[in-house]
Amino acid sequence: METGAGKTSKPLDLRGVKVHRGYLDPVEQAQIVARLREVVAAAPLFSPQTPYGKPMSVKMTSAGKYGWFSDRRGYRYVDRHPSGTPWPPIPEEILAVWRELVSTERMPDCCLVNFYGEGARMGLHRDADEADFSWPVLSISLGDEGRFRVGGLERGGSTESLWLESGDVLVMGGAARLIYHGVDKIRFGASALLPQGGRINLTLRVVD
Ligand code: SIN
Ligand code: MN
Repeated sequence: METGAGKTSKPLDLRGVKVHRGYLDPVEQAQIVARLREVVAAAPLFSPQTPYGKPMSVKMTSAGKYGWFSDRRGYRYVDRHPSGTPWPPIPEEILAVWRELVSTERMPDCCLVNFYGEGARMGLHRDADEADFSWPVLSISLGDEGRFRVGGLERGGSTESLWLESGDVLVMGGAARLIYHGVDKIRFGASALLPQGGRINLTLRVVD
């Protein structure tokens, strides 16, 4: 397997999004997956409803002070899982990536866990439900490859895409903090990290 550039080399720049190829090695990826199994045991994955009433194809849960949620009332952050239990803490192995690439002073309020099974995708959108856009969003990809698409700061216009692999880490900050992005499709079963297949994306966000 071709391995990425790791922690030492300069990130690629995709319209202002910093792409750290192969930032996490396979051992680190497996450690994070083991911690995520604990998160999902405490706060099971669910399919949020879009404001239009359709379930999203991506399953989600969260860790941290807040979790991202959606239903007919719209997109927002909530302090509890739909079951009523508080979100579990963000695992230390995940916070370590934030410390290395974003800040040691301010920790994220939310780690959104997205699970893409076969056929799941995410349409172009901006991460704009936070009260504070001065901190970047950090995104970790694990498992099957996903084709990540980025546009501009407005809807419409040209886009470009990049296949994200397990262990790749993105930082969307500065002028790219509110860039349109989405995931067109995944190569289900392409990675051996998750025995049942699928792609996990973690996004760490400062919410307020
Ligand atoms: C997201 O925008 O919340 C997810 C992005 C990704 O899955 O890479
Ligand atoms: Mn997003």
